[in-house]
Amino acid sequence: MADILIRNIKGLVQVRAAGIDRVAGKAMSELPVLENAYLHLNNGVIQAYGRMEELPVIHASEEIDATGRYVFPSFVDSHTHLVFAASREEEFVMKIKGASYAEIAAKGGGILNSARKLQQTSDDELYERALLRANEIMATGTGAVEIKSGYGLTTRDELRMLRIARRIGNETPLTVKTTFLGAHAIPAGIIQSDYIKLIIDEMIPAVAAEKLADYIDVFCEQGFFTMDETERIVETGKQFGMKPRIHANQLHRSGGVQVGVKTGALSVDHLENIGVEEIEALKNSTVMPTALPGAAFFLGLPFPPARQLIEAALPLAIASDYNPGSAPSGNMPLMVSLACIKMKMTPEEAINAATLNTAAALELQHTHGSITPGKVANVYITTPMSGIAYMPYAFGSRVIDRVILKGKII
Ligand code: NIG
Ligand code: FE
Repeated sequence: MADILIRNIKGLVQVRAAGIDRVAGKAMSELPVLENAYLHLNNGVIQAYGRMEELPVIHASEEIDATGRYVFPSFVDSHTHLVFAASREEEFVMKIKGASYAEIAAKGGGILNSARKLQQTSDDELYERALLRANEIMATGTGAVEIKSGYGLTTRDELRMLRIARRIGNETPLTVKTTFLGAHAIPAGIIQSDYIKLIIDEMIPAVAAEKLADYIDVFCEQGFFTMDETERIVETGKQFGMKPRIHANQLHRSGGVQVGVKTGALSVDHLENIGVEEIEALKNSTVMPTALPGAAFFLGLPFPPARQLIEAALPLAIASDYNPGSAPSGNMPLMVSLACIKMKMTPEEAINAATLNTAAALELQHTHGSITPGKVANVYITTPMSGIAYMPYAFGSRVIDRVILKGKII
């Protein structure tokens, strides 16, 4: 396996001792950067780093000069719907003309539209389309990603989605965690209670029998799944070894945050509609609050109150929500920009949120999310830049030059 030495790094970002698993509150504003550094990657893991003056003799098979450039740990994107059949730009145009997300969903658009398309798409085609997106997010700095089902909505199609998500993890350099999201919407032609019964009695056991999902998720939202339904579904998932993460408080004060806290979810994601009560609930928990700024931006929703969450000494994570309906981009540098511009997070806070804290949300804190000896050799080298604030500042611009995943140059 390639043995890579990166020399003359202007700044090696997010250097952390082992054991620092997440940052919360004030600590989110501290982002350790080692200037004029070297980084040695060996056997697919981070071997060592230090200042150039202290560089020992290393005979690496590959040497990279990073003069003027920063090296970051790869992003961990803890919330995506990367496996889908087709884009939905027709709904995008409807939204421009004034239709709301809920109105489009009520007319059989939205998630049901994606489900119809997925049900008619073969495994190979679905895989090829997901692979294009996987390659796209690797190029923009993502090294580990969570992928949800939820556009199948039948047992057969939910299983197909999860198998494809697993295949992305097996056949690309991405580290993939999978989440069963059968409770994403109620399919046409079946009543709510029957669909929930199907999820509980048939889908969850089938997913578990094939070990297809690490986690279970529910879209806890008016017109989708109630607090009680969410709780029943995720509690069943837990019995089958899938820890919960919740789509919470996207469109309304749905109670999703409270269910997440009650059921011991790893994360509650979205949070566009939260107030003091949700923040209080989160304070007494280990749940990772997660903002999806791309979805808030695309749907024109209020952004999650990042400053209030951080002032409450809570941690905050940032993920893309890459999906065809509410966030057609998995570009994590853009998510970091949106977090800074629209949520008033500092670049240091936003980068912590998209690396260390998302790694913790995916239980990858021992292997991903920071430059720490022994962690997976997942890094990217930036274009030449004056300082780390340039990345969120230069929104939408190409800021990543080279990507190394699992110790291999991509
Ligand atoms: O996270 N809110 C629910 N699910 C997705 C959107 C799904 C869709 O519109 O296809 C989300 O925003
Ligand atoms: Fe989502």
